[in-house]
Amino acid sequence: MKNPAARILTGHRPTGPRHIGHLVGTLQNWVKLQDTHQCFFLVADIHVLTTDYEHPEKISENTLEMVYDWLASGIDPARSTLVLQSAVPEHAVLCLLLSMLAPVGRLERVPTYKDQVRELGLNPSLGLLAYPVLQAADILVYRANAVPVGEDQLPHLELTQEIAHRFNQLYGEYFPEPEALLSAYPRLPGIDNRTMHTSYNNAIFLRDTPEETTRKVMRMYTDPTRIHATDPGHIEDNPVFTYLDIFDPDKDQVAELKGLYLKGEVGDVEVKRYLAGVLNAALADHRQRRAQLAAHPKDVLDILQSGSNQARIVARETLEVVMEKMGLRTGLSLSETFTQQQAASLNGPGC
Ligand code: TRP
Repeated sequence: MKNPAARILTGHRPTGPRHIGHLVGTLQNWVKLQDTHQCFFLVADIHVLTTDYEHPEKISENTLEMVYDWLASGIDPARSTLVLQSAVPEHAVLCLLLSMLAPVGRLERVPTYKDQVRELGLNPSLGLLAYPVLQAADILVYRANAVPVGEDQLPHLELTQEIAHRFNQLYGEYFPEPEALLSAYPRLPGIDNRTMHTSYNNAIFLRDTPEETTRKVMRMYTDPTRIHATDPGHIEDNPVFTYLDIFDPDKDQVAELKGLYLKGEVGDVEVKRYLAGVLNAALADHRQRRAQLAAHPKDVLDILQSGSNQARIVARETLEVVMEKMGLRTGLSLSETFTQQQAASLNGPGC
């Protein structure tokens, strides 16, 4: 039974297809949460623009590529709500209203912001500074109680709690102060042993073919101290064995390979060939479901549309309460009667 009071919102920026790190770190966790919580899964396309506003041509395609992987992983639109951020304008309006409660000095101290300004070395926009306020709006617009995220998102969640708290203090109790649900899995290393990341060119994507996957595995970082196959090898900090631990259901086989590797009785090439087979077997069903989805993009857009429409009912209700509480009652009542049909039947100003 789902507890209707346990409402979750989480999401990703649509930066393209998901990789195997997303699958084991995030998606499998989301899929399980659907059994116990009312879940909203957000495609945060407006957030992409905070850094990538010069590349608008990619966002629609990346949205579909990401959602194929969500659905192929088991995100179930019959049980959960998939929301496209830009299709629910209440996110943006709530962001603006909540921004009144977010001190600039506080936003400038958010570590993700400081890092990005340093990395990108550019003049930060108001939109980038407001990134966590938009994220707070994403969460609060559905009055979510819990947000499953990775550790890197904790500063944003803290800010969300502060904004909710401040709102409740000023205008009366309304928003839950949402808690973070940290995923248990550590981050998966990429094929170069840095954290797996779309932009590091070190990811194995869920849409990669078996051949691409094998090629990437054969290029993987292993034990740099090992020069000949007969040298004793190291298992710790060796991503080949990290992957085997996660993806190989045959634990005895993994234990045996580790034993041989430690003694220098099996070569890297052989272990990698074995891993490629394991990965391709583990990903086969996902790939098949994904290919079916990708053959019908219109059906996937329909899923996003009906999810966004359902979400909008909740979001609209929240925005009405917030406008009312923040003194915009008049604007609220004057705008309420405006529907699309009326818009079509009216002429614009001056016509
Ligand atoms: N900032 C998140 C990320 O980069 C994406 C995101 C946007 C999000 N809005 C959210 C995550 C709301 C959780 C809740 O991964």
